[in-house]
Parts: sequence; C-alpha cells; structure tokens
Amino acid sequence: MSYKEVYAGWQADPEAFWMKAAEAIDWIKAPSKALWDDDAPLYEWFKDAQVNTCYNAVDRHVEAGNGDRVAIIYDSPVTGQKSKTTYAELQEQVAALAGGLAAKGVVAGDRVVIYMPMVPEALVAMLACVRIGAIHSVVFGGFAANELAVRIDDATPKAIIAGSCGIEPGRIVEYKPLLDGAIDLATHKPEFSVIFQRPQCEAELGPQDIEWHELQKGVPPAPCVAVSGDHPAYILYTSGTTGAPKGVVRPTAGHLVALNWTMKNIYNVVPGDVFWAASDVGWVVGHSYICYAPLIHGNTTVVFEGKPVGTPDATTFWRVIAEHDVRSFFTAPTAFRAIKRQDSKGESIKNFDMSRLRALYLAGERADPDTIEWAQEVMGVPVYDHWWQTETGFTIAGNPAGIEAMPVKIGSPTVAMPGYDVQILDEGGHQVPVGELGAIAVKLPLPPGTLPTLWNASDRFIKSYLTTFPGYYETGDAGMIDEGGYLYIMARTDDVINVAGHRLSTGGMEEVLASHPDVAECAVIGVSDELKGQLPLGFLCLNDGCTRTAEQVVAEVITLVREKIGPVAAFKLACVVDRLPKTRSGKILRATMVSIADGKAYKAPATIDDPAVLDEVRLALQKLGYAQP
Ligand code: COA
Ligand code: AMP
Repeated sequence: MSYKEVYAGWQADPEAFWMKAAEAIDWIKAPSKALWDDDAPLYEWFKDAQVNTCYNAVDRHVEAGNGDRVAIIYDSPVTGQKSKTTYAELQEQVAALAGGLAAKGVVAGDRVVIYMPMVPEALVAMLACVRIGAIHSVVFGGFAANELAVRIDDATPKAIIAGSCGIEPGRIVEYKPLLDGAIDLATHKPEFSVIFQRPQCEAELGPQDIEWHELQKGVPPAPCVAVSGDHPAYILYTSGTTGAPKGVVRPTAGHLVALNWTMKNIYNVVPGDVFWAASDVGWVVGHSYICYAPLIHGNTTVVFEGKPVGTPDATTFWRVIAEHDVRSFFTAPTAFRAIKRQDSKGESIKNFDMSRLRALYLAGERADPDTIEWAQEVMGVPVYDHWWQTETGFTIAGNPAGIEAMPVKIGSPTVAMPGYDVQILDEGGHQVPVGELGAIAVKLPLPPGTLPTLWNASDRFIKSYLTTFPGYYETGDAGMIDEGGYLYIMARTDDVINVAGHRLSTGGMEEVLASHPDVAECAVIGVSDELKGQLPLGFLCLNDGCTRTAEQVVAEVITLVREKIGPVAAFKLACVVDRLPKTRSGKILRATMVSIADGKAYKAPATIDDPAVLDEVRLALQKLGYAQP
C-alpha cells in the first residue's frame, strides 16, 4: 500500500486502523474499542484494556524464544566501557529491581523519579517501574537541583532512583549532591532513594538511601502487573512558557500501540535489527526511541554515553554505526553540525563500513538544508527530517519509509502520519490557503500514545493546548503546507526556544534573572547560533542606585541560571540596557529584538513606545557579536 492509501484508510475508519495496530500488542485483556470520547475534548484510547508495558517490551520476547537476542548495546566512549544485555538478562535485571521496589512498598500508581546518566540501568529502572505499574518521571542529568526539586514537588514520588554520577567530557557530574539539594529544596519528601554506584564517583549514602544491589537482595523478582489502558506509564516534564514545567502524561496502551506501529512504518526496521537514537533518556526521544519503541518491537537498542564530537573525536558516530550494525539512526541536527564543523568534508567516514545503514532520521529542532545536504552526501543514505514533540511522543509529520519512501523535499519533515489531521490556521481558527503561514494545529482527537492531559493539571492542559482553537490541539509551532501536502515548520509561536535540540523556556530564564536583587526588569530571547540552532540571550535593566558594575551583574546572572536551571540552559550571553523596547501597552518586543540580533530586516511595530530604544538594543547586541549589519 502507498502512504496515501494508508493515510486515507486511517481517515476513513480511525477506529479500525488503531484496532488493527493494537493486534501487535500482547494484552492481558484486549480492548473492546479504541477511542473513548465520553469526556471530550479529553480523549482516552484502549481504556478498558488490561496490559503491561514491561511485558510487551521484555518478557514476551523471551517467551517467544528470543531471550538470547541482544536487547541493549551499551557503548560509552567517556568510560571506555561496552557491553551487551540480552532480552533474557534484561528480564532478570528488571524483575529483580522491580522486586526490590515492591518490597519497599512501591505499588501501582506510585510515582518514582529517575535521575540517571546514559547507562543501561536507566532503562532497567524505567522498565522496573512500569513492570509494577509505578509511574516514572525521568529528569535529565543536565538540570540543576532546583529543577529536580520542582519536578519532585509536582510528581510527589514515593522513591527516587539515581546514578551516583554522570560523565561529561572533561568532568564528572556528581548526582548525589544535586539530589540531596533537590530533596532539601522540595516540600515533598520521597520515602527513600535507590543509588546506582558508578566506579567513577561513588556517592556517600545517607539514612534514606539504599544501594541498587542491596535493594534487590533477598527479595523475589516481581511479576508484571496488569494496569488499565489509560494508566499513566510515565510523566515527562517539558518546558512551557513559564518556569513551571508541564508534566506530560503518557498513557500505557496508546503508547504501546503507537510506538510499535512507528518502528516498521517510519523507521523501517524489522525485529532483530539494531536501532540507535543518539539522545538522552531524559528527553522524549530517549523515552520513545532509546527505551520503549525498539524494545516493544523486539529490536536491539543502543545506549550511547558520549557526544558526537570530543569523545574522542568526530568519528564516534561512524564507529558506533559500523561496529554495532546500526540499520536506522536517529539524532538531532545539532549533532551533525558539530561533526561537520570538525570534519567539513566528512573524510573520516571513509574508514568505516556504513553499508548496512538504511537511513538517518533527524528531529528535535529545525533541520537546516545545509546539514541535511551534508549528511546525505557524506553518509550516502536518505536523510529524513521528522517533526514531533514531547506531548505527542512520536512523529506528527515524517517520511513513512517503511510504507513508502516519499521524495525528500529539503526543509520539510514531509507528511502527516496516520492519526494526525494537521491543519494550518489563522488567528481566527480558519484554515489558511495552501502555501500560507499560520499556526499548526491538529484536529482532535490526537492519536493513541499522545498526552491525554498534564499531570494533576487538566485545566492547564485545556488552557495551554485546547483553548486557542476549539476542536484542535495547538502545537505551538507555526508553518505551512504546500500543494503536495508537505508540511514546513518555521518557528515557535510561544516563548519556547530550542538549544542544541533541547527545549527551553525563555520565560523560565526570565524568572531566574528577575530574582537577582539588582535586576529591575529583563527579557530573554533566542538568537540564531550556527551550532546549537538557538542560544538564549538576556537583557537586563538594573535598579536605580545599583552600585555594582554591569559586568558583575551579568556574570552573576549567568551563574544563577546555571545554578537554578542547569548547564543545559547554555545561558552565557547577557547585557545591560537602560530600557527594553515595548509597545505603548507595555508588551516587550521580543520578536523585534530577535530580528535585530539575527541581522534580519524588521519593521518596528506602529504601537512602539519609543523607537530609539531599538538602537540601544542594537548597540548592546553588537558588543556581544550579534546584530551585525
Ligand atoms: N548532565 C550534566 N550536564 C550536561 C548534560 C548531562 N546529561 N548534558 C549536557 N550537559 C552540560 C554540558 O556539559 C554543557 O556544560 P558546559 O556549559 O559546562 O560546557 C552544557 O550542559 C550544555 O550542553 P550541550 O547543549 O549539550 O552542549 P555541548 O557543548 O556540551 O555539546 C553538542 C554540543 C551539539 C555536541 C550536544 O548538544 C549534542 O550532542 N547534541 C545532540 C542532540 C541531542 O542529544 N538532542 C536531544 C534531543 S534529540
Ligand atoms: P521537544 O518537546 O523537546 O521534542 O520539542 C518539540 C519542539 O521542537 C517542536 O514543537 C518544534 O518546535 C521543535 N521541533 C522538533 N522537531 C522538529 C523538526 N523536525 N523541525 C522543526 N522543529 C522541530
């Protein structure tokens, strides 16, 4: 069947489409129907089913006789370690950890925060939680204690599972002090923490801490428990427009059905193939495509602890692909920009056998044409951009290579996947003509596996996503659809920026800057960056009578953002100005500031209060190397 036929088949009968896809899942009690719309605009999928995620990701493969198949390849250039875990070994490890958690009283519905580096045990921890119906919430290692504390207070976990350290090139990141700091800051206190000790830096354990292996001693392995189809498998926090992150809820059954469907139809792999997503378990790409989808589908997944460059050099990706026989590879464009910067002609790839790789998949940020063309030429495989979000958990628009490889149009992540009726709307919620820009919205209901709501915040869910365009999910992205139905993603419509494929909130950074005692007012914008796509840049107006120099305050706010949000914010640019450009009604002209910074043509809005302020902004930006004529 062609893509058009598959998509039309879904449009004609979504219920039949998803019930058919659901046949690939092993149910304890099969769903009687797919969509539950009694609470519209809040929708659920496969709600009356009974199922277990871990059983589908691990146990069923062992029972089918594939226990010797490799489930996880661990490749860690930062430690020099490599290992392989079979499905049978994974089952044993997961059941043992789940048994330990259960023995400490963790039951279905309890939350467990996971704060782990890129080691196989991070996947073991996630799977152990879903095995017993506990709801995990993984927090990315590059976040500071304060961000961890915010998530602890929102998810109110019974337990935390943490590694003793992460390893960044040139430095060891001790997790235990960050964890202790977060628990101190948080109002909610978890009952205990499980610590996975790494030889690079063992943590000192306190009275609430239990060592990973100790937890498992003398307790029986835990079986998979049945949960209902709408039971949350996990919560993953993502940036919104304010400093309070949104807890995206992932429902169990829809997650299983949708992710399993994507592995063949989008990533074009068959069970047994090696699939590699070079991301981090702290992000949605890591949840969906390092942990769950490859395992549910019976593939081998690669857990890579390293960077595209510097661990040890720009050949690392090629080595991992060749050495582990990777068939489909997924990463963010920024990783390729980093490699290209060090090996612009891609000479070093010639030393590696890439002949088995079928395709490269890019997502997480806009894939710029230069990067796509370079990757196509150097790697000699199709490069498929695809667009999705933490909220959806899988592709909204992509190239369905396993159904039919569509011609690549550079600059477009290709076409809407079955399940998604993507439309471009104007401010009034009307569809714009083909080729015109507008807000990208998806007609409700969203497909299985996408967020049914935000954790403990259904009102916020409705307000943030379902209110601007009644009957639609507002993606927060703007773009257009061409005559061939190809989608183009142009920009965010909110204060979210994308730094090296990491989604960050400028509003959240502004809250940190505003907390500095000398800062009267501030604004953070995302400026274009050749490597990371965007970088945050802060403008500060200081209080009258401030006795500190501008340099002092700038240095302090940079440190403050690193302490409060974390190194991942990459906040290193700030300047002091007398005033911020505003409209007469007091709205800060952030978009105009971005245009000035990026050296783009702009027109000051008619409502601007004082156009002279823009010149001041330009001068300040020029001092930082931006706003070049
Ligand atoms: N734990 C602790 N610190 C972390 C971290 C983690 N898991 N991940 C990143 N950091 C730190 C980095 O060490 C860096 O700190 P520094 O300011 O002291 O140098 C800072 O956070 C910013 O990290 P990053 O944005 O990753 O920049 P980088 O300069 O270290 O690397 C790239 C740049 C392009 C190589 C890197 O961003 C990359 O590999 N990106 C791949 C894309 C990706 O994984 N995207 C995820 C979504 S698909
Ligand atoms: P995240 O939730 O971290 O995955 O970030 C999702 C956001 O990243 C989207 O809303 C887009 O703004 C951006 N994004 C992700 N993939 C793409 C893509 N292929 N092209 C353009 N932007 C993308």
